[in-house]
Amino acid sequence: MFKITDDILYIGVDDNDIDLFEGQYAVPNGVSYNSYLCFDEKIAVFDTVDKSKKEEWLRTLDKALNGAAPDYLIISHTEPDHAACIPAFLERYPAAKVVGNEKTFIILNRFFGDLKAEKLIVKEGDIIDLGKHKISFIFAQMVHWPEVMMSYDQTDKILFSADAFGKFGALSHEEDWLDEARRYYINIVGKYGNPVQGALKKAAALNIQKICPLHGPTLVGDLDFYIRKYDLWSTYRPEEEGVFIAYASVYGNTAAAAEKLCAELKARGVKAETADLNRCDMSRAVATAFKYPKLVVASVTCDAGLIPCTEAFINKLRSKNFSNRTVGFIQNGSWAPMSAKIMRTAFESFKAVSLCGVTVTVNSALDEQAYKQLNELADELAV
Ligand code: FEO
Repeated sequence: MFKITDDILYIGVDDNDIDLFEGQYAVPNGVSYNSYLCFDEKIAVFDTVDKSKKEEWLRTLDKALNGAAPDYLIISHTEPDHAACIPAFLERYPAAKVVGNEKTFIILNRFFGDLKAEKLIVKEGDIIDLGKHKISFIFAQMVHWPEVMMSYDQTDKILFSADAFGKFGALSHEEDWLDEARRYYINIVGKYGNPVQGALKKAAALNIQKICPLHGPTLVGDLDFYIRKYDLWSTYRPEEEGVFIAYASVYGNTAAAAEKLCAELKARGVKAETADLNRCDMSRAVATAFKYPKLVVASVTCDAGLIPCTEAFINKLRSKNFSNRTVGFIQNGSWAPMSAKIMRTAFESFKAVSLCGVTVTVNSALDEQAYKQLNELADELAV
Protein backbone atom coordinates (compact mmCIF):
# COMPACT_ATOMS: atom_id res chain seq x y z
CA MET A 1 0.00 0.00 0.00
CA PHE A 2 1.39 3.43 -0.89
CA LYS A 3 0.20 6.90 -1.76
CA ILE A 4 -0.31 7.96 -5.34
CA THR A 5 -1.56 11.39 -4.25
CA ASP A 6 -2.79 12.79 -0.93
CA ASP A 7 -6.18 11.11 -1.39
CA ILE A 8 -5.41 8.16 -3.63
CA LEU A 9 -3.78 4.97 -2.41
CA TYR A 10 -2.37 2.00 -4.27
CA ILE A 11 -3.88 -1.10 -2.69
CA GLY A 12 -2.95 -3.72 -5.28
CA VAL A 13 -0.97 -6.92 -4.80
CA ASP A 14 2.07 -8.56 -6.36
CA ASP A 15 1.82 -12.10 -7.63
CA ASN A 16 5.20 -13.80 -7.58
CA ASP A 17 3.64 -17.27 -7.39
CA ILE A 18 1.98 -17.28 -10.81
CA ASP A 19 3.34 -19.77 -13.33
CA LEU A 20 1.66 -18.52 -16.51
CA PHE A 21 -0.26 -15.27 -16.97
CA GLU A 22 -3.57 -15.88 -18.75
CA GLY A 23 -2.55 -19.54 -18.77
CA GLN A 24 0.09 -19.02 -21.44
CA TYR A 25 2.61 -16.23 -20.81
CA ALA A 26 5.71 -16.84 -18.71
CA VAL A 27 6.19 -14.03 -16.21
CA PRO A 28 9.56 -14.67 -14.55
CA ASN A 29 9.21 -11.50 -12.50
CA GLY A 30 5.56 -12.12 -11.66
CA VAL A 31 2.79 -9.60 -12.23
CA SER A 32 0.90 -7.04 -10.19
CA TYR A 33 -2.87 -6.78 -9.97
CA ASN A 34 -3.48 -3.12 -9.32
CA SER A 35 -6.29 -1.73 -7.26
CA TYR A 36 -6.69 1.82 -5.98
CA LEU A 37 -8.65 3.64 -3.32
CA CYS A 38 -9.83 7.26 -3.42
CA PHE A 39 -10.58 8.78 -0.03
CA ASP A 40 -13.02 11.66 -0.12
CA GLU A 41 -16.45 12.47 1.35
CA LYS A 42 -17.38 9.32 -0.56
CA ILE A 43 -14.87 6.50 -0.89
CA ALA A 44 -14.26 4.70 -4.17
CA VAL A 45 -12.33 1.50 -4.76
CA PHE A 46 -11.02 0.94 -8.28
CA ASP A 47 -11.04 -2.75 -9.24
CA THR A 48 -10.29 -5.89 -7.28
CA VAL A 49 -7.56 -8.51 -7.91
CA ASP A 50 -7.02 -12.11 -8.97
CA LYS A 51 -8.62 -14.73 -6.71
CA SER A 52 -5.21 -16.16 -5.78
CA LYS A 53 -4.49 -12.94 -3.87
CA LYS A 54 -7.94 -12.40 -2.37
CA GLU A 55 -6.95 -12.59 1.30
CA GLU A 56 -3.93 -10.36 0.90
CA TRP A 57 -5.96 -7.77 -1.02
CA LEU A 58 -8.80 -7.77 1.50
CA ARG A 59 -6.30 -7.29 4.33
CA THR A 60 -4.71 -4.36 2.51
CA LEU A 61 -8.12 -2.88 1.73
CA ASP A 62 -9.27 -3.19 5.35
CA LYS A 63 -6.09 -1.56 6.56
CA ALA A 64 -6.42 1.28 4.06
CA LEU A 65 -10.06 1.86 4.98
CA ASN A 66 -9.22 1.92 8.68
CA GLY A 67 -12.81 1.25 9.69
CA ALA A 68 -14.49 3.29 6.94
CA ALA A 69 -16.76 1.66 4.38
CA PRO A 70 -16.40 2.19 0.64
CA ASP A 71 -19.30 3.79 -1.24
CA TYR A 72 -18.34 2.64 -4.73
CA LEU A 73 -16.51 -0.21 -6.40
CA ILE A 74 -15.59 0.96 -9.89
CA ILE A 75 -15.04 -1.87 -12.37
CA SER A 76 -12.71 -0.98 -15.24
CA HIS A 77 -12.47 -4.49 -16.59
CA THR A 78 -14.24 -7.75 -15.83
CA GLU A 79 -11.40 -10.14 -16.68
CA PRO A 80 -10.87 -12.34 -13.62
CA ASP A 81 -7.38 -11.09 -12.87
CA HIS A 82 -9.17 -7.89 -11.81
CA ALA A 83 -12.74 -8.84 -11.09
CA ALA A 84 -12.50 -12.19 -9.31
CA CYS A 85 -12.77 -10.68 -5.83
CA ILE A 86 -15.95 -8.65 -6.45
CA PRO A 87 -18.16 -11.19 -4.59
CA ALA A 88 -15.75 -11.28 -1.63
CA PHE A 89 -15.68 -7.47 -1.57
CA LEU A 90 -19.48 -7.30 -1.58
CA GLU A 91 -19.75 -9.84 1.22
CA ARG A 92 -17.63 -7.57 3.34
CA TYR A 93 -19.03 -4.24 2.10
CA PRO A 94 -22.60 -4.96 0.95
CA ALA A 95 -23.62 -1.30 0.88
CA ALA A 96 -21.08 -0.36 -1.79
CA LYS A 97 -22.49 0.43 -5.23
CA VAL A 98 -20.86 -1.46 -8.08
CA VAL A 99 -20.07 0.97 -10.93
CA GLY A 100 -19.83 -0.26 -14.50
CA ASN A 101 -21.39 0.12 -17.92
CA GLU A 102 -24.07 -2.08 -19.45
CA LYS A 103 -21.53 -4.51 -20.86
CA THR A 104 -19.74 -4.70 -17.51
CA PHE A 105 -22.81 -6.14 -15.85
CA ILE A 106 -23.59 -8.53 -18.70
CA ILE A 107 -20.15 -10.09 -18.33
CA LEU A 108 -20.16 -10.01 -14.53
CA ASN A 109 -23.47 -11.83 -14.63
CA ARG A 110 -21.87 -14.59 -16.70
CA PHE A 111 -19.11 -15.03 -14.15
CA PHE A 112 -21.02 -14.57 -10.91
CA GLY A 113 -24.74 -14.68 -11.60
CA ASP A 114 -26.73 -11.71 -10.36
CA LEU A 115 -24.58 -9.76 -7.92
CA LYS A 116 -26.39 -8.92 -4.72
CA ALA A 117 -25.46 -5.28 -4.84
CA GLU A 118 -26.74 -1.94 -5.98
CA LYS A 119 -25.53 -1.37 -9.52
CA LEU A 120 -24.73 2.00 -10.97
CA ILE A 121 -24.68 1.84 -14.76
CA VAL A 122 -22.66 4.68 -16.23
CA LYS A 123 -22.40 6.04 -19.74
CA GLU A 124 -19.39 7.61 -21.37
CA GLY A 125 -18.74 11.05 -19.90
CA ASP A 126 -20.82 10.45 -16.77
CA ILE A 127 -19.28 11.79 -13.59
CA ILE A 128 -19.34 10.41 -10.07
CA ASP A 129 -18.92 13.16 -7.51
CA LEU A 130 -16.94 11.90 -4.51
CA GLY A 131 -16.72 15.38 -2.95
CA LYS A 132 -13.43 16.95 -3.89
CA HIS A 133 -12.79 14.32 -6.56
CA LYS A 134 -14.92 14.06 -9.70
CA ILE A 135 -14.49 10.78 -11.54
CA SER A 136 -15.46 10.64 -15.21
CA PHE A 137 -15.60 7.58 -17.43
CA ILE A 138 -13.97 7.00 -20.80
CA PHE A 139 -15.12 3.90 -22.62
CA ALA A 140 -12.29 1.88 -24.13
CA GLN A 141 -14.05 -1.04 -25.76
CA MET A 142 -11.69 -3.85 -26.82
CA VAL A 143 -8.74 -2.49 -24.87
CA HIS A 144 -8.81 -5.41 -24.12
CA TRP A 145 -12.39 -6.65 -23.66
CA PRO A 146 -15.64 -5.05 -24.85
CA GLU A 147 -16.68 -3.62 -21.49
CA VAL A 148 -13.39 -1.92 -20.63
CA MET A 149 -13.66 1.64 -19.40
CA MET A 150 -11.06 4.00 -18.05
CA SER A 151 -11.72 6.44 -15.24
CA TYR A 152 -10.34 9.94 -14.95
CA ASP A 153 -9.96 11.82 -11.71
CA GLN A 154 -10.48 15.43 -12.75
CA THR A 155 -9.04 16.71 -9.48
CA ASP A 156 -5.70 14.91 -9.32
CA LYS A 157 -5.53 14.50 -13.13
CA ILE A 158 -5.10 10.74 -12.92
CA LEU A 159 -6.06 8.36 -15.69
CA PHE A 160 -7.01 4.91 -14.41
CA SER A 161 -6.19 3.26 -17.70
CA ALA A 162 -7.38 -0.35 -17.21
CA ASP A 163 -5.13 -2.80 -19.11
CA ALA A 164 -3.63 -0.02 -21.23
CA PHE A 165 -0.11 1.04 -20.24
CA GLY A 166 0.28 -2.08 -18.11
CA LYS A 167 3.29 -4.36 -18.05
CA PHE A 168 4.33 -7.78 -16.83
CA GLY A 169 6.44 -7.86 -13.67
CA ALA A 170 5.49 -7.50 -10.02
CA LEU A 171 6.13 -4.08 -8.51
CA SER A 172 8.70 -5.64 -6.17
CA HIS A 173 10.95 -6.26 -9.19
CA GLU A 174 12.67 -3.17 -10.42
CA GLU A 175 13.02 -3.35 -14.16
CA ASP A 176 12.79 -1.12 -17.17
CA TRP A 177 9.21 -0.49 -18.31
CA LEU A 178 9.66 -0.83 -22.04
CA ASP A 179 10.48 -4.48 -22.79
CA GLU A 180 7.86 -5.99 -20.52
CA ALA A 181 5.28 -3.36 -21.47
CA ARG A 182 5.88 -4.16 -25.13
CA ARG A 183 5.60 -7.90 -24.51
CA TYR A 184 2.41 -7.31 -22.52
CA TYR A 185 0.87 -4.96 -25.10
CA ILE A 186 1.69 -6.95 -28.24
CA ASN A 187 0.55 -10.27 -26.80
CA ILE A 188 -2.45 -9.17 -24.74
CA VAL A 189 -3.86 -6.11 -26.50
CA GLY A 190 -1.96 -6.15 -29.81
CA LYS A 191 -4.82 -7.40 -31.97
CA TYR A 192 -6.91 -4.35 -31.07
CA GLY A 193 -4.92 -1.51 -32.59
CA ASN A 194 -7.90 0.50 -33.83
CA PRO A 195 -9.69 0.52 -30.45
CA VAL A 196 -6.42 1.54 -28.79
CA GLN A 197 -6.13 4.41 -31.25
CA GLY A 198 -9.67 5.44 -30.33
CA ALA A 199 -8.84 5.39 -26.62
CA LEU A 200 -5.64 7.40 -27.19
CA LYS A 201 -7.62 10.06 -29.03
CA LYS A 202 -10.02 10.36 -26.10
CA ALA A 203 -7.13 10.48 -23.62
CA ALA A 204 -5.45 13.22 -25.66
CA ALA A 205 -8.29 15.55 -24.70
CA LEU A 206 -7.48 15.16 -20.98
CA ASN A 207 -4.86 16.81 -18.81
CA ILE A 208 -3.16 13.70 -17.44
CA GLN A 209 -0.48 13.94 -14.76
CA LYS A 210 -0.31 10.25 -13.81
CA ILE A 211 -1.42 6.99 -15.39
CA CYS A 212 -2.56 4.20 -13.07
CA PRO A 213 -2.87 0.94 -15.04
CA LEU A 214 -4.19 -2.41 -13.86
CA HIS A 215 -0.73 -4.00 -14.07
CA GLY A 216 2.68 -2.50 -13.44
CA PRO A 217 3.84 0.81 -12.04
CA THR A 218 2.09 4.15 -11.92
CA LEU A 219 3.45 6.18 -14.81
CA VAL A 220 4.61 9.70 -14.08
CA GLY A 221 7.00 12.17 -15.65
CA ASP A 222 7.35 12.13 -19.43
CA LEU A 223 3.97 10.57 -20.22
CA ASP A 224 4.49 11.38 -23.91
CA PHE A 225 7.13 8.64 -24.00
CA TYR A 226 4.56 6.00 -23.03
CA ILE A 227 1.83 7.47 -25.22
CA ARG A 228 4.17 7.56 -28.23
CA LYS A 229 4.98 3.86 -27.74
CA TYR A 230 1.28 3.04 -27.59
CA ASP A 231 0.70 5.09 -30.72
CA LEU A 232 3.42 3.16 -32.60
CA TRP A 233 2.30 -0.25 -31.35
CA SER A 234 -1.37 0.34 -32.05
CA THR A 235 -0.65 1.50 -35.61
CA TYR A 236 1.63 -1.50 -36.17
CA ARG A 237 4.66 0.66 -36.87
CA PRO A 238 8.20 -0.31 -35.83
CA GLU A 239 10.00 1.46 -33.01
CA GLU A 240 13.55 1.53 -34.36
CA GLU A 241 15.66 0.45 -37.33
CA GLY A 242 16.96 -3.10 -37.21
CA VAL A 243 16.42 -6.70 -38.20
CA PHE A 244 15.10 -9.52 -36.07
CA ILE A 245 16.15 -13.01 -37.14
CA ALA A 246 13.98 -15.74 -35.66
CA TYR A 247 15.26 -19.23 -36.33
CA ALA A 248 14.21 -22.83 -35.82
CA SER A 249 17.12 -25.22 -36.07
CA VAL A 250 17.50 -28.96 -35.51
CA TYR A 251 21.22 -29.73 -35.83
CA GLY A 252 22.55 -26.20 -35.57
CA ASN A 253 22.99 -25.46 -39.27
CA THR A 254 19.96 -23.18 -39.58
CA ALA A 255 21.08 -21.46 -36.39
CA ALA A 256 24.53 -21.00 -37.94
CA ALA A 257 22.94 -19.40 -41.00
CA ALA A 258 20.89 -17.05 -38.80
CA GLU A 259 23.94 -16.03 -36.78
CA LYS A 260 25.99 -15.54 -39.96
CA LEU A 261 23.29 -13.24 -41.35
CA CYS A 262 23.24 -11.37 -38.05
CA ALA A 263 27.02 -10.88 -38.23
CA GLU A 264 26.84 -9.75 -41.86
CA LEU A 265 24.15 -7.19 -40.97
CA LYS A 266 26.18 -5.86 -38.07
CA ALA A 267 29.21 -5.62 -40.36
CA ARG A 268 27.05 -3.38 -42.55
CA GLY A 269 26.15 -1.18 -39.59
CA VAL A 270 22.66 -2.61 -39.18
CA LYS A 271 21.31 -3.44 -35.73
CA ALA A 272 20.29 -7.11 -35.64
CA GLU A 273 19.35 -9.72 -33.08
CA THR A 274 18.49 -13.41 -33.21
CA ALA A 275 16.20 -15.70 -31.24
CA ASP A 276 15.92 -19.48 -31.16
CA LEU A 277 12.21 -20.18 -31.63
CA ASN A 278 12.53 -23.68 -30.22
CA ARG A 279 13.85 -22.41 -26.90
CA CYS A 280 12.98 -18.76 -26.41
CA ASP A 281 9.82 -17.40 -24.90
CA MET A 282 7.42 -17.18 -27.87
CA SER A 283 5.69 -14.07 -26.53
CA ARG A 284 9.06 -12.34 -26.34
CA ALA A 285 9.93 -13.34 -29.92
CA VAL A 286 6.58 -12.02 -31.15
CA ALA A 287 7.09 -8.73 -29.28
CA THR A 288 10.63 -8.37 -30.65
CA ALA A 289 9.36 -8.90 -34.20
CA PHE A 290 7.13 -5.85 -33.69
CA LYS A 291 10.05 -3.73 -32.52
CA TYR A 292 11.85 -3.67 -35.88
CA PRO A 293 10.80 -2.97 -39.48
CA LYS A 294 12.53 -6.10 -40.83
CA LEU A 295 12.16 -9.75 -39.93
CA VAL A 296 13.91 -12.85 -41.21
CA VAL A 297 12.48 -16.25 -40.43
CA ALA A 298 14.98 -19.09 -40.74
CA SER A 299 13.49 -22.53 -40.54
CA VAL A 300 14.21 -26.15 -41.26
CA THR A 301 11.80 -28.18 -43.32
CA CYS A 302 10.03 -30.85 -41.33
CA ASP A 303 7.71 -33.52 -42.79
CA ALA A 304 7.46 -31.40 -45.97
CA GLY A 305 6.14 -28.57 -43.80
CA LEU A 306 7.28 -26.26 -41.04
CA ILE A 307 8.65 -27.26 -37.69
CA PRO A 308 5.92 -26.51 -35.09
CA CYS A 309 7.63 -23.53 -33.46
CA THR A 310 7.93 -21.74 -36.82
CA GLU A 311 4.28 -22.40 -37.52
CA ALA A 312 3.32 -21.13 -34.08
CA PHE A 313 5.43 -17.99 -34.51
CA ILE A 314 3.86 -17.12 -37.86
CA ASN A 315 0.35 -17.83 -36.55
CA LYS A 316 0.97 -15.60 -33.53
CA LEU A 317 2.21 -12.79 -35.75
CA ARG A 318 -0.90 -13.15 -37.91
CA SER A 319 -3.22 -13.08 -34.92
CA LYS A 320 -1.55 -9.85 -33.70
CA ASN A 321 -1.97 -8.14 -37.10
CA PHE A 322 1.75 -8.05 -37.87
CA SER A 323 2.02 -5.60 -40.77
CA ASN A 324 4.00 -2.75 -42.31
CA ARG A 325 7.18 -4.85 -42.33
CA THR A 326 9.69 -6.47 -44.68
CA VAL A 327 10.18 -10.21 -44.26
CA GLY A 328 12.96 -12.47 -45.57
CA PHE A 329 13.51 -16.21 -45.39
CA ILE A 330 16.22 -18.77 -44.81
CA GLN A 331 15.24 -22.35 -45.43
CA ASN A 332 17.01 -25.60 -44.70
CA GLY A 333 16.31 -29.10 -45.98
CA SER A 334 18.54 -32.07 -46.60
CA TRP A 335 16.71 -33.42 -49.65
CA ALA A 336 13.69 -31.24 -50.37
CA PRO A 337 13.79 -27.78 -48.73
CA MET A 338 10.20 -26.52 -48.62
CA SER A 339 10.05 -24.14 -45.69
CA ALA A 340 10.69 -20.89 -47.60
CA LYS A 341 7.87 -21.62 -50.04
CA ILE A 342 5.46 -22.35 -47.19
CA MET A 343 6.55 -19.29 -45.18
CA ARG A 344 6.35 -17.06 -48.24
CA THR A 345 2.80 -18.22 -48.93
CA ALA A 346 1.87 -17.58 -45.31
CA PHE A 347 3.27 -14.05 -45.23
CA GLU A 348 1.71 -13.18 -48.59
CA SER A 349 -1.62 -13.10 -46.78
CA PHE A 350 -0.37 -10.53 -44.23
CA LYS A 351 -1.38 -6.92 -44.72
CA ALA A 352 1.32 -4.51 -45.91
CA VAL A 353 4.18 -6.98 -45.65
CA SER A 354 6.75 -6.98 -48.43
CA LEU A 355 8.90 -10.02 -49.00
CA CYS A 356 12.62 -9.99 -49.72
CA GLY A 357 13.66 -11.00 -53.21
CA VAL A 358 16.59 -13.09 -51.96
CA THR A 359 15.84 -16.40 -50.26
CA VAL A 360 18.68 -18.32 -48.64
CA THR A 361 18.68 -22.07 -49.05
CA VAL A 362 20.83 -24.24 -46.81
CA ASN A 363 21.09 -27.80 -48.06
CA SER A 364 21.92 -29.46 -44.73
CA ALA A 365 24.92 -27.26 -43.90
CA LEU A 366 26.29 -23.91 -44.96
CA ASP A 367 28.20 -24.07 -48.22
CA GLU A 368 29.59 -21.55 -50.67
CA GLN A 369 26.22 -21.02 -52.31
CA ALA A 370 24.48 -20.42 -48.97
CA TYR A 371 27.17 -17.94 -47.87
CA LYS A 372 26.69 -16.07 -51.14
CA GLN A 373 22.94 -15.90 -50.64
CA LEU A 374 23.37 -14.78 -47.02
CA ASN A 375 25.53 -11.91 -48.22
CA GLU A 376 22.96 -10.99 -50.86
CA LEU A 377 20.16 -11.07 -48.27
CA ALA A 378 22.25 -8.92 -45.91
CA ASP A 379 22.79 -6.42 -48.74
CA GLU A 380 19.07 -6.34 -49.47
CA LEU A 381 18.15 -5.84 -45.78
CA ALA A 382 20.81 -3.20 -45.24
CA VAL A 383 19.31 -0.83 -47.81
FE1 FEO B 1 -5.30 -7.70 -16.83
FE2 FEO B 1 -7.39 -7.91 -19.66
O1 FEO B 1 -6.79 -8.13 -17.90
